[in-house]
Amino acid sequence: MSTKIAPSLLAADFGNLQRDVEMVNQSDADWHHIDVMDGVFVPNISYGMPVVKAIAKHATKPLDVHLMIVDPDRYIKTFAELGAGVLSVHYEACTHLHRTLQAIKAEGMKAGVALNPHTSVALLEDTIQDIDVVCLMSVNPGFGGQSFIENTYEKVKQLKAIIQRKGTSTLIEIDGGVTDSNAQKLVECGADVLVAGSFVFKASDPTKTIAELSKLVNN
Ligand code: DX5
Ligand code: ZN
Repeated sequence: MSTKIAPSLLAADFGNLQRDVEMVNQSDADWHHIDVMDGVFVPNISYGMPVVKAIAKHATKPLDVHLMIVDPDRYIKTFAELGAGVLSVHYEACTHLHRTLQAIKAEGMKAGVALNPHTSVALLEDTIQDIDVVCLMSVNPGFGGQSFIENTYEKVKQLKAIIQRKGTSTLIEIDGGVTDSNAQKLVECGADVLVAGSFVFKASDPTKTIAELSKLVNN
């Protein structure tokens, strides 16, 4: 199975959002990664529903929505209506994760769970069969442009072992500090989806950068 690339629009030029969404449409990317932050779960506020709606209007690839918000259950229906294909909630923000996952699926979306760098993958042992995508944070969530936390490689391997042992088809997504210097090793450890914000959008030629990253991990 090929490794997916999901450019994070957090690093896009918000004054030219349509242009940047269309760049992703026309590139070798697979998903649009959309970071929603509430200023409570993480110490930053990114954008909310009206902006997601504007992105959805122009996007032609699946919307991979990463909710960095407290009590995400309140907005599951809203994000389904906005067109999310994958909806990821944080493990640390859900008291009743199993119920939340069922609610996401009941709205027709793929259910994702994001883990902060300090949260052990072992905590997903009892829910992995209900999770379509595990988003492993390789930086502390809240900001783009941070450096990759090396312990992530070990977490990917441990999570892959759980997925294989349980026989599920859960995808492993890596989010934060992904570049051409760690992408290959992440895929060797078991990663299926790579989110890349700054590496793509701060590049002089984002389309070419996406193509090269995709080629690097799909040869
Ligand atoms: C961080 C976000 C990431 C971020 C990644 O809280 O979840 O998706 O945009 O950005 P880079 O690739 O710049 O680390
Ligand atoms: Zn993200």
